[in-house]
Amino acid sequence: MRRKLAAGNWKMNGLRAQLSEIDAMQEAASGGSEVLICPPTTLLTEAVARAGHIEIGGQDCHARASGAHTGDVSAAMLADTGASYVILGHSERRTDHDEHDDEVRAKCKSAWEAGLKAVVCVGETLAEREASNTLDIIGGQLAGSIPDGATGHNLVVAYEPVWAIGTGKVPTTDQIGEVHDFIRARLERRFGAGVGRSVRLLYGGSVKPANAAEIFAVSNVDGALVGGASLKAADFVPIIEALNGASDG
Ligand code: PGA
Repeated sequence: MRRKLAAGNWKMNGLRAQLSEIDAMQEAASGGSEVLICPPTTLLTEAVARAGHIEIGGQDCHARASGAHTGDVSAAMLADTGASYVILGHSERRTDHDEHDDEVRAKCKSAWEAGLKAVVCVGETLAEREASNTLDIIGGQLAGSIPDGATGHNLVVAYEPVWAIGTGKVPTTDQIGEVHDFIRARLERRFGAGVGRSVRLLYGGSVKPANAAEIFAVSNVDGALVGGASLKAADFVPIIEALNGASDG
C-alpha cells in the first residue's frame, strides 16, 4: 500500500563530478522502491537532467514564493528545476538557522502550493530522550510542523533522532518502532485513518549498508533518509537493495 522510499540527503556535499554517483544508482532504483536524491541546490538542474528512475529534491525552501530574500530559494524555484520533493525541518536547519515548527509549517504549505512533496523531519535531542520526553517532543513537532491538508501523496515524515545523525549511533529497533508507531497513530488521529496510514515514515540517522535491513524490518518503517551513506553509490545501492528486499512493515 505504501511504496517504500530510499531518500538521500547530500547536505552541503557534491560538485558536478559527483553526479556520476546518481548514474551508478539507476539499476538499484528500478528494483521497486522509490529512490530520491536531494543534492545541493547548485546541482538540481543537472541532477534532474540525468535522474532516470530517481526522483530529485531540494533540502530546504523559503516560505514565500518570491521576493527580497537574498540567498534563499523558493519552492516554486525548486519545482521549476524539475525537482519533485523538498526536505523540510531537518535538525541541521532547525539548529543552524534557528528554524521552528511554525516556519517549517509555512514552508510546507509553500512546497505543496508549488506541487512539491514534503519530507518533514522530526526528532529528539539526546537530552530530551534521556529525560523521557521523546514522544512529547515528536508529538509537538508533528502538530506544529505539518499543515492541514496532508495526504499520502504530498507528505513523508522522517524520524531523525538528533543524536543519531552523523554519529554512528543508532536507536534500538524497539526505540525506532515505538516512535514510528506513535507517529502513525498521531497522523491517523489528526488526518483520519486513510490518510494517516498512507503517509510514508522514514527513519534517518546513521543508516548504513550494515544496519539497513534490520531497520527496514521494523513496523511502520517505510524507508530511510540517509546522509553520509547516500553520497556514494557503493554505499547507497546496498541500502536501496535492502529496502527492495524488505517485506511490508
Ligand atoms: P546521516 O544523516 O545518515 O549521515 O546520519 C542523516 C540525515 O541527516 O538525514
